[in-house]
Amino acid sequence: GDDLVVLGIETSCDDTAAAVVRGNGEILSQVVSSQADLLARYGGVAPKMAEEAHSQVIDQVVEQALGKANLTEMDLSAVAVTIGPGLSLCLRVGVRKARKIAGKFNLSMVGVHHMEAHALVARLIERDLQFPFLALLISGGHNLLVLALDLGQYIQLGTTIDDAIGEAYDKTARWLGLDMRRGGGPALEELAQEGDAESIKFSIPMKQHKDCNFSYAGLKTQVRLAIESKKVKAEIPISSASCEDRSSRADIAASFQRVAVLHLEERCDRAIEWALKIQPSIKYLVVSGGVASNKYVRTRLNQIVKKKGLQLVCPPPSLCTDNGVMVAWTGIEHFRLGRFDPPPPANEPDDSV
Ligand code: KG4
Ligand code: ZN
Repeated sequence: GDDLVVLGIETSCDDTAAAVVRGNGEILSQVVSSQADLLARYGGVAPKMAEEAHSQVIDQVVEQALGKANLTEMDLSAVAVTIGPGLSLCLRVGVRKARKIAGKFNLSMVGVHHMEAHALVARLIERDLQFPFLALLISGGHNLLVLALDLGQYIQLGTTIDDAIGEAYDKTARWLGLDMRRGGGPALEELAQEGDAESIKFSIPMKQHKDCNFSYAGLKTQVRLAIESKKVKAEIPISSASCEDRSSRADIAASFQRVAVLHLEERCDRAIEWALKIQPSIKYLVVSGGVASNKYVRTRLNQIVKKKGLQLVCPPPSLCTDNGVMVAWTGIEHFRLGRFDPPPPANEPDDSV
């Protein structure tokens, strides 16, 4: 029922996150500790380093989540934790913490799929969002078009054959010498606003493939070549670039973004047509995952969705990027249907997980 209170823990990638959510969808607390700073310094995620960063902050992040919710572990109904997909070293930090709490306080556990959580958090935001619905999940590691028939019942309509869109945003941002401390995506989105999106005619990926799959590796190569041919001095940080150089970089950013998103638009358009043939009752397209916090992405997809007579549901940015709320909420959805695990043994040794 609505008196459920679930703690959600997320450590699958580079954010350490925890949140407490009620069965009625009320978010009691939300804490995220980001490693973006670390990544900017070292130029990418090294699993061992990411694991260490998670380990350093996990206790504090969970404690803060409980504190902000004004609760102790004893008030919880269950602990939900991301069990995949993701870096296994990193996932283990979250799972260990979850099992420790659940064991000590005799709480049920729910193992959560990271991408399912990205999709289902939309049902916390939009209470009218019933199954079946369509979901486009766009993040650093995944690019998925999914038909959600019911809880735990998903048909994959499309996935990436190489890179995800977030990866392309991050690489492009790095190559353009942008400040990566807040993440490449947001920095690129901002710079793109200054540029002319029509200035470089990148070709749209997989035009000739009439399916719902994605590809971003080719677009990345096109960007790389454009940077070389425009003689952008991208090794100089953008903050020290000349006016002319900055404007060239902005043109590349805007042109990249236009085509990256056109690819999404085309695939969504087709997915909606397919999905309506199988399930004519579909009313919503959910767009979630880190890249869904991008305003240009939201605006363009909203137009496609409206043209098809559907409605877009896009969670607020803090719930699109990795967070504990989506994990807690997905835990609640499964828990309600009896899909949870019994408490682990108390005082389980750390190395058994
Ligand atoms: O879902 P998420 O937080 O983590 C993964 O599961 O991967 O997504 C992270 C990705 C990164 O590639 C990041 O650059 C991208 O989402 N991202 C954005 C924006 N905010 C985050 N991409 C484009 N525009 C944004 N505003
Ligand atoms: Zn994610």
